[in-house]
Amino acid sequence: MASARHMGAAALMVALAVLALATGGSAKLQHEFYKGKCNGSDVEAVVKSIVKARFAREAPIVAYLLRMQFHECAVNGCDGGLLIDGPGTEKTAPPNLSVKGYDLIAAIKAELERRCPGVVSCSDIEILATRDAVALAGGPAYKVRTGRRDRRRSRASDVKLPGSEYTAAQAIAYYAKLGMSAYETVLLLGAHTVGATQCRVIKNSRLYGYGGKMGATDPAMDPTIASVYKKSVCPNVTKSDGNTVYLDDQWSALKVDNNYYKNLQRGRGVLLVDQNLYRDGSTRKIVDQLARNDGLFQSMFAKVLVKLSEVNVLTGKQGEIRKVCNKFN
Ligand code: HEM
Repeated sequence: MASARHMGAAALMVALAVLALATGGSAKLQHEFYKGKCNGSDVEAVVKSIVKARFAREAPIVAYLLRMQFHECAVNGCDGGLLIDGPGTEKTAPPNLSVKGYDLIAAIKAELERRCPGVVSCSDIEILATRDAVALAGGPAYKVRTGRRDRRRSRASDVKLPGSEYTAAQAIAYYAKLGMSAYETVLLLGAHTVGATQCRVIKNSRLYGYGGKMGATDPAMDPTIASVYKKSVCPNVTKSDGNTVYLDDQWSALKVDNNYYKNLQRGRGVLLVDQNLYRDGSTRKIVDQLARNDGLFQSMFAKVLVKLSEVNVLTGKQGEIRKVCNKFN
């Protein structure tokens, strides 16, 4: 009896070993992947100190990095493709023309190349830097796995990002392709708790042409805020096109918190897609829940950023570790 149990255990071990061999070719992301790999330097600490110094003099870096992580990971995965310079690369696609923060990624890469050449990927730097900026801006502190490799592909024609006028259903369908649920869609848009846009993005869709009707303002917009936008921030003249509109209340526009959802409840969402999350009954419930509970938002936002950071990554021997982030080796 005992030996039969022994035999069973041995067979299980063999089966597990075979399984490990079969899947062993595809290396996985790991926590602290770079530990002990950078000539005595702590890679994550180096990234953090450079992000911290930048955040101290330019707090909007948190918005730049969050948007960068999204535009990076949603196009062929988190693979550094967005960072490549040159004609026809991802960076040149219209939605990416206003992405900022590339210089910070380049600075971190340069410092890490000095300490350990050819070790740390640009895609990992993007994810680590975003993580650090989010925590500095009052958001959650979270762990991320590393070990991403950089892809040798970057094409503007691959860039398919969502439109600012999407309905909630369209946004949900878009994120479903990235493996995200409706709940995760609402969480991801919570990134609009920081940063800004320009009047040109909301003038037609919300202030002066809602629903395709000339002169119509979105009836879901709080009339007080609509009047401020129309009178002072985005008057109906071309020269207001480039004026700044904060995506969250100005006092909260550099803070990662759930105030974005509270604003949606009051009709103070800025982009049409933001306010549409409250217009639609199915996503409204999620907005209400996140608006009530900042702790819940913080913990779930961390989870969804981690999930976004692991979309379609290259690992092991795939891709390359670039020497500089804006060029293939
Ligand atoms: C349906 C989904 C989304 C749409 C349609 C959308 C659209 C936009 C638009 C139109 C802007 C303004 C850009 C400009 O005026 O230059 C913007 C800004 C921003 N987006 Fe999104 N976005 C979406 C999802 C996300 C996600 C998932 C994240 C991050 C996880 C994100 C992070 C940001 C941030 C932080 C800004 C402010 C950037 C800055 O201040 O420079 N967005 N987004």
